[in-house]
Parts: sequence; structure tokens; C-alpha cells
Amino acid sequence: MSTTQKPLSLLINIIFFLLLLSPSISTNDPTPANWPHQFHALLFMNRTNTLQNLHLWYDWPNGRNFNIIQDQLNAVVKYDLEWNNGTSFVYTLHPSNQHCEVLHVDVGILRPNWMEGANYLGQERVDNFLCNVWEKVDFIWYYEDVITKTPVKWIFYTGIELLTF
Ligand SMILES: *[C@@H]1O[C@H](CO)[C@@H](O)[C@H](O)[C@H]1NC(C)=O
Ligand SMILES: *[C@@H]1O[C@H](CO)[C@@H](O)[C@H](O)[C@H]1NC(C)=O
Repeated sequence: MSTTQKPLSLLINIIFFLLLLSPSISTNDPTPANWPHQFHALLFMNRTNTLQNLHLWYDWPNGRNFNIIQDQLNAVVKYDLEWNNGTSFVYTLHPSNQHCEVLHVDVGILRPNWMEGANYLGQERVDNFLCNVWEKVDFIWYYEDVITKTPVKWIFYTGIELLTF
């Protein structure tokens, strides 16, 4: 009996040791701060040939994300109200251009910890801010102020660049 137990307990010890060891290997890299559950942010969105001003009203407890978007030198404001059940209402209220579109997005709105599991790439300066930089699934590059942990910039794989103000 005892001869068969020994190799087994050794194996269990090794597994436990590895389990305890493995999380500590990766904790040296900084991780992105979770988003506050409710906030308002002013952003500038830069994509090829379009510069837009964007007010983001993030409201996780109520499952909604409201973007108010305005092109440079254009009076027409676009509202994009996204619900966590996947329904988005994109509309304008300007008399010259009134319309509403209902879209369905399978993933819903971004979770407060949506950058969890991102790969740390190191530090980089963005304008006057020293930032930690992460990349996630070749989809997004995320820049966060090293000291305040405030997001400074994020770039989507499509080339769309968002800057916080
Ligand atoms: C917008 O993006 C282009 C191309 O990536 C870049 O050359 C330009 O400096 C950016 N503009 C701003 C205001 O960040
Ligand atoms: C999602 O929620 C919004 C707000 O309550 C509602 O207007 C919309 O119809 C819902 N969509 C679905 C598919 O249930």
C-alpha cells in the first residue's frame, strides 16, 4: 500500500507546487486598471480622414453605454446608445438629418475588466504621459497613465484611435 502511495503524493506535491508557482511568474507585469462602473469621458476619435469628438457615458450597473459623437465642423450630432442585451440605437435629432438605426451587437457593452488577460508590451510616452501599453488579441492596443492609471489612448485594429481628454 505504502509503496503505491509515495509516487502519487509526490505527483500531487509537484502539481501543487506548480499551481502555486505559476501565478507568481506573471505578476511582475502591470495589469490594466478596471474601468469605474460609471463615468463620463471626453474622447477624441481619429480615423482616416475623420476627427470626431466623443462623449462617452459608461453605465455598467444599468447595462448601457452612451456615445455622443460629433464630427469636426459638423453640427449634426450622432447618438449611439448601446444596451448590454446587444441592442444599439444609433440616431440623430438634427432637423436636417433625422434618422434612427437599430443594430444588434452580440457581445453587448464592454465589461469593466474588458482588458483582463492583455499582453503587457512595456512603457511608451503618449504626448506628455508616460503610459503602460498592452495589446489584446491583435484587436486593441491600450495605453494607460503609469501613475494615475487613467486610460490615455486606445487603438483598434481597424486603425481607429481614441484619445481621452
Ligand atoms: C490621426 O491619425 C493619423 C494617422 O494615424 C496621424 O498621422 C495623426 O497625427 C492623428 N491625429 C491626431 C490628432 O492624433
Ligand atoms: C434591450 O434593452 C433595451 C432597453 O431596455 C430595449 O429597448 C431593447 O428592446 C432590448 N432589446 C432586446 C433584443 O430585448
